[in-house]
Amino acid sequence: MTDRQTLSTTDVVVLGAGPAGLVLGNLLQERGVDCVVLERAERAYVQTRARAGFLAAHTVRILERHGLAEGLLRRGRAHSVCEFRSADGRFRLDYGALGQGERHTVYPQQQLVTDLLTRFLASGGRVEFGTEAVAVLDADTDRPAVTVRGADGRPGRWRARYVAGCDGRHGAARRSLPAGSVRRYHCDHGVTWLGLLAEAPPSLDAVGYAVHERGFAGHMARTSEITRYYLQCERGIPADAWSEERIWDELELRMRGAEYGPLNRGRVVRRGVVDLESDVLEPLRHGSLFLAGDAAGLVSPSAAKGANLAVLQAEILAGALVDDLLHGDSAGLDAYSARCLAYIWRAQEFSHWMIRLLHGSYGTSDGRSLFHDSLRRSRLASLRTSRSLQDWFAEHYVGV
Ligand code: APR
Repeated sequence: MTDRQTLSTTDVVVLGAGPAGLVLGNLLQERGVDCVVLERAERAYVQTRARAGFLAAHTVRILERHGLAEGLLRRGRAHSVCEFRSADGRFRLDYGALGQGERHTVYPQQQLVTDLLTRFLASGGRVEFGTEAVAVLDADTDRPAVTVRGADGRPGRWRARYVAGCDGRHGAARRSLPAGSVRRYHCDHGVTWLGLLAEAPPSLDAVGYAVHERGFAGHMARTSEITRYYLQCERGIPADAWSEERIWDELELRMRGAEYGPLNRGRVVRRGVVDLESDVLEPLRHGSLFLAGDAAGLVSPSAAKGANLAVLQAEILAGALVDDLLHGDSAGLDAYSARCLAYIWRAQEFSHWMIRLLHGSYGTSDGRSLFHDSLRRSRLASLRTSRSLQDWFAEHYVGV
């Protein structure tokens, strides 16, 4: 350590103030475990960053159990229907009446993050904003350290008993894993989405999935004034390649507005291009460093699983850390990785199934891709007609 570095200590250093890090922080704080959350971004940025918004019933139960659900129960909206549109017509699945009868709560992720942060700070929690974790050191010992760079560029260092890597796929936790300590399973689904946030009221009272020969289009309500749309696009195009007019015309066409009613248009306030990728790290632990949320595995956004898995893993990790630090029982920490991976792989399998349901052979028409297009069409027909498949879908769509 150089003399310019300040050294601080705590029991658990949590990297990242997203859903995973903030649920973990709150649960540790609730049980009296000393911790600090280090967040690279400033508070205002974290609280306004638009991300996912569909919370599974199980996620809501976890948050309720720990007194973290007040905002979402007050302002979130129950949601339980999705509508599929294709050349074969449209059908609706009231998944709240299928499977285990569970629903989503639509609550923008930045509002959840704001609630979690407010609660954490009010109960005495520490968050160091504008502080980037640079590396996790000595993770194979019981005194790991985290080197940081503060907003003013000044280096610092935290020592702890455990480090929780909740800092996403490009964070310091993943970067600090020694080669060969953890295996990465990766899949590029070969599909790219233009993700859009529009200042426009939702156009249907359901999640809309449109399967079209020009590519997939998706519709997801966020609030009564804001709607999220997705358009499958060519890989590598810049986010601003399409004019707003072209975006709305393309959405209208793929969502089959002429047949099923026009879309409510409005200003596109945010856009970004995302390549659909998934990965999983195994195990989710290297010595004293544990991974949770996107740092542990990235689920493609096709089934809105990411935030739900993050909350689930944070609860499991919090329980295990409390058992170890307060009661000297390390069984939970030993089982953490295997326990979470079972959920993660189920979510991966479902989201992979969704990707294959919704995306055709974009731009190609050789025999193989036509074959796969026909499989996809048949898969959609099965979902339309088979009650047992619908129950399976509902269970996996809302469940974790
Ligand atoms: N040091 C400190 N903080 C960092 C660093 C770093 N080196 N790198 C990243 N971060 C912060 C990011 O700024 C972000 O606030 O870590 C946080 C990670 O939060 P999320 O990306 O929201 O990840 P997570 O909590 O795992 O939630 C996962 O939310 O929207 C979904 O797609 C997301 O579904 C995923 C879920």
